[in-house]
Amino acid sequence: MIVVGLDLGGTKIAAGAFDGERLLSEVVLPTPKEGGEAVVRALAEAAAQAEAKAGVRAEAIGLGTPGPLDFKEGVIRFTPNIPGLEDFPIRRLLEEATGRPVHLENDANAAALAEHHLGAARGEESSLFLTVSTGIGGGVVLGGRALRGKRGQGGELGHTTLLPGGPVCGCGLEGCLEALAAGRALERDAAYAFQRPVDTRELFRLFQAGEPKARRLLLQAARYVGIGLASLVKAFDPGVVVVGGGLALNAPQAYWEALEEAYRRYLQGWEAPPLRKALLGSKAGLLGAALTAFLEVRDGSG
Ligand code: BGC
Ligand code: NA
Ligand code: ZN
Repeated sequence: MIVVGLDLGGTKIAAGAFDGERLLSEVVLPTPKEGGEAVVRALAEAAAQAEAKAGVRAEAIGLGTPGPLDFKEGVIRFTPNIPGLEDFPIRRLLEEATGRPVHLENDANAAALAEHHLGAARGEESSLFLTVSTGIGGGVVLGGRALRGKRGQGGELGHTTLLPGGPVCGCGLEGCLEALAAGRALERDAAYAFQRPVDTRELFRLFQAGEPKARRLLLQAARYVGIGLASLVKAFDPGVVVVGGGLALNAPQAYWEALEEAYRRYLQGWEAPPLRKALLGSKAGLLGAALTAFLEVRDGSG
């Protein structure tokens, strides 16, 4: 059986044909800035290109998208980091555009699923995954499937409240983990600290050069991630905790040390599940979207 995975991100769409084990093709297209139907057209085009490149026709399509979803309705409720997709019936529109059944999954739930079956949590019964990039996403995998909850907001771990009254998050609330430690939060704090725009890549460079403000910002963000994870461990007690995402995976070693130190400190007296780096890197979302469709076609809706 062949499926196509689609990973919808803020700047790019990744697509690939998948046979249950590996990707047979990979295509990347830019995410249209207009949102809405332009995004649907680009997704359908990316899927068609991925099929053509692999010389296959997929039975079904798996779509990973940011935002709390409504799985029953196939609707994106809102996306903190992509405009133009509020209450958007993406499943129906993409099914119409591709003529194939579409299986929807939250992007980070999808990545969690991929790390669970094919990556850093392989062989574990349960795992908890956090992706730290522009935003912060999460996923909890139990019995081989990502926890969606009743409505579709299960696994929205980035919106765990860590600092009541803290900085405003893309979701509209204050003091979420994402508002304290995601790439966008770091860039906001760095712009304030340096009185000019500083992206995360430059922040890493300043850090490596020993710049004290860069050091303080980055290590503080790492500690928030560690503290957030320690709280989440008490909710789910997963077999393993996996951390990925572009920001974390590209961060200096000291970031990981601060993260792990905070994680252990806030689990003192508890059994801390092993903390691992994600293995699938930027491919996790795409593999997970494909895996979502593959598992649903093979085993039925979980
Ligand atoms: C969204 C999540 C998403 C994460 C990573 C968060 O802001 O709420 O749904 O998984 O960003 O894209
Ligand atoms: Na999630
Ligand atoms: Zn939030």
